[in-house]
Amino acid sequence: MDAGADGHRLAGAQASRFRLPPLHSLPVAWRALLTVVVIFIGAGYFAALVNVLAQNELVDGQPGLSAADLILKYAGKQVPVVAGKAPPSRMLEMIRTAMREYFDSDDDFRVLERWLTAGASREAFTSGPEPTPHDVVLTTCLRCHAADSRKEIGRKSPFGPDQFTVDYEWVSKFTLAPPPGATSVWRPPRDWRDLALTTHAHMLSVPVFVVLLGALFLCSGWPQGESRAAAVWRTVLACAPLVLFLADVACWWLARLPGVGWVFALTIGATGVLFGVAFGLQWIVVIGALWSMQSSKTNGGK
Ligand code: HEC
Repeated sequence: MDAGADGHRLAGAQASRFRLPPLHSLPVAWRALLTVVVIFIGAGYFAALVNVLAQNELVDGQPGLSAADLILKYAGKQVPVVAGKAPPSRMLEMIRTAMREYFDSDDDFRVLERWLTAGASREAFTSGPEPTPHDVVLTTCLRCHAADSRKEIGRKSPFGPDQFTVDYEWVSKFTLAPPPGATSVWRPPRDWRDLALTTHAHMLSVPVFVVLLGALFLCSGWPQGESRAAAVWRTVLACAPLVLFLADVACWWLARLPGVGWVFALTIGATGVLFGVAFGLQWIVVIGALWSMQSSKTNGGK
């Protein structure tokens, strides 16, 4: 009957005087409040999943998140040049996603897309029917992507020195245009400054809700029992999401190691999935413990 409270005792260890209240013993107002918090956390995680898919699926030019997306984004890759096949360039990825809205017309978009998929050559940049790819970049992109645009992205990823000048060399940093005669071209991983920003934002925010859910999970008393095995499971399951998240972030950086980086890029996929499983399990256990039959019995008189 007292299984919930028993569940908090570490087998073999000295019984601690510190006891967190089992979730099912909380008054209904507390359980309602915690339920809303837990639903927020679940919805936030779901939104993060959608965001990961949206941000990463087109890295390789194909819809759907794949191993190729992870390797290109985190490790970088020497991409073979295949005639008639578009190299998965950063420019192509961006015009199909975040930059799509800046085109004045679908025709402008198609001019740039066709040039990129055909290999982004120097000749085709300024030739052909009007508008040429050069003209589209000039009218559509330079207001943000000129070095003197006073926008941060203009300093970070400029396509020309000022609002009136497009520089093919600068643009081609993002197009993966192969030098004449090359059989492969290097697609670099994402910028380390970008990665540093994402790392710091995640490292300081993710643990807050992961620890909160983990603590609630420990108050669920599941898996029940005083055995050493139950205590080990409780410990492993409580810490798993945080440890997996740390491993995930470590892999973002380790993936940049030359030669072996791709292994870590693939590990990002594995740690991400395992995080989801552990986190999802905690979530279900906590909701279950808040509203289990036991709670209505315990709180019957309150
Ligand atoms: C209104 C401002 C604005 C316009 C116009 C704009 N961009 Fe961007 N661009 C940005 C911002 C801001 C970022 C950084 C956001 C991000 O990385 O998601 C960015 C990022 C990029 C990147 C990635 C740069 C990197 O360092 O990885 C590419 C490539 C790019 N834009 C291409 C284009 C092209 C091509 C056009 C024109 C068709 C264009 N952009 C028009 C604001 C703009």
